Amino acid sequence: MKIDAVTIFPEYFAPAQLSLLGKAQNKGIVDLAVHDLRSITSDNHNTVDDTPYGGGAGMVMLPEVWGKALDPLLISDVDLIILTPAGKRFNQAMAESFAKVNHLVFACGRYEGIDDRVRQYYSQPEFVKSGVRVHEVSIGDYVLGGGEVASLVMIEAITRLIPGVLGNPESLMDESHNSDGYLEYPNFTKPQEWRGISVPEILLSGNHGEIAKWRKLQAQERAKKAH
Ligand code: ADE
Repeated sequence: MKIDAVTIFPEYFAPAQLSLLGKAQNKGIVDLAVHDLRSITSDNHNTVDDTPYGGGAGMVMLPEVWGKALDPLLISDVDLIILTPAGKRFNQAMAESFAKVNHLVFACGRYEGIDDRVRQYYSQPEFVKSGVRVHEVSIGDYVLGGGEVASLVMIEAITRLIPGVLGNPESLMDESHNSDGYLEYPNFTKPQEWRGISVPEILLSGNHGEIAKWRKLQAQERAKKAH
């Protein structure tokens, strides 16, 4: 999968070199390119924002700069993700559908966001015809300083679903938030007793049918508490 991220803070993406995502890039399964939006500006001050029409607090990111950055990335068969707290809420089902695409482009807005004409422009019929799909996505009901951390969250959740990224693909089958919506059951490892607390007997029984039933029940209980 090809992934492009456009940002004024490329350094935010340093953790993408670590762990599974780093390995996926070394293996050539994921090709991540981070683009510095400021390098695209043409004025002496490398301006990326200006005051909003209609007044109000904060600054809005300039459509001209974003257009220059995105034009070469949005040619065909590509999903543009604009990070904004006003977007559609990211969840596991969305991660699963993005894990199947060939090319993702993350537009990381800061301040009060990106001039809305950028979204409008790339949503026009000629782009739709070329396979450009525009999504506004939020990772949760809170406001971050910008879209960089949100992009990292999405990239991690999406790429670990790509075949070959996880060492043991079976961990995908069992885990929390899989399509039936249950949070994962509690897990235990050695030793059998730690600080006076024992591992539940059932897990030592070797009865896989009963263990599976117990885990399902525990997962349902956790899901009830979490919602
Ligand atoms: N930018 C600022 N807050 C955000 C959020 N919650 N999700 C995505 N992008 C954001």
